[in-house]
Amino acid sequence: MTAGEEFDEWAAAGKDRGMEDRHWHTAKHALARMPVEAGDTVLDLGTGSGYVLRALRETADIGAGYGLDASPKMVRNARSYTDDAQVGFLQGDFDALPVGTASVDHVFSMEAFYYARDPVHTLEEIRRILRPGGTFYCAVNFYEESEQTHHWQEMLDVEMTLWDSAQYREAFREAGLHVAEQDEIPDREVDIPPKEAFPTEDWETREAMVDRYRTHGTLLTVGVAPE
Ligand SMILES: C[S@@+](CC[C@H](N)C(=O)[O-])C[C@H]1O[C@@H](n2cnc3c(N)ncnc32)[C@H](O)[C@@H]1O
Repeated sequence: MTAGEEFDEWAAAGKDRGMEDRHWHTAKHALARMPVEAGDTVLDLGTGSGYVLRALRETADIGAGYGLDASPKMVRNARSYTDDAQVGFLQGDFDALPVGTASVDHVFSMEAFYYARDPVHTLEEIRRILRPGGTFYCAVNFYEESEQTHHWQEMLDVEMTLWDSAQYREAFREAGLHVAEQDEIPDREVDIPPKEAFPTEDWETREAMVDRYRTHGTLLTVGVAPE
């Protein structure tokens, strides 16, 4: 199954809105660090419901925002959630970004980059489309240090790349991006019940839940295109 087919099913089932709710807990902190200036062009990779671009248009006065997604139904849903003429959604794949060289100020991606079939090539594509000094804010919840996320691969037919934080930094450099920052952003909004409540439907132990949300959360790696 391709990513487009897999996530078409998610979009048809309304899971795009559920992801938006969950991912916003940490995506908003990553977004707040992005040095966006008025009029900037932003590309959101694996945009899902497109909430990142809607939020940026409300809070940061970006010029144009484009959301790319492999799933036609995700793209259709994202279009239906906004009538903002400055925001557009495109169907496409991380393998070949349908964007001109040195034409984008910032690329953002939340919980999507690890679906790239050839992640280093995707980073090279990002490096190509960024203007000198432009940034890539790459946020993932599925990564090596966050052990409680590893079983997600068993739940999906699409291949996922499980890198650790050092592998992210190395790959960014291999693709020609400077690594400006790397950090784990904890999710403090998920309610963790007291010890007596475990096991729950989703969690065997409280320690495992704390590890997933508070110790790890979201790995943010920031790349900058050379001047
Ligand atoms: C887990 S969802 C995250 C969506 C959104 N960024 C969010 O935070 O809720 C991953 C998204 O990436 C898209 N995607 C996965 N592989 C892709 C690829 N190779 N090219 C383009 N989009 C892809 C999926 O269709 C899906 O909408």
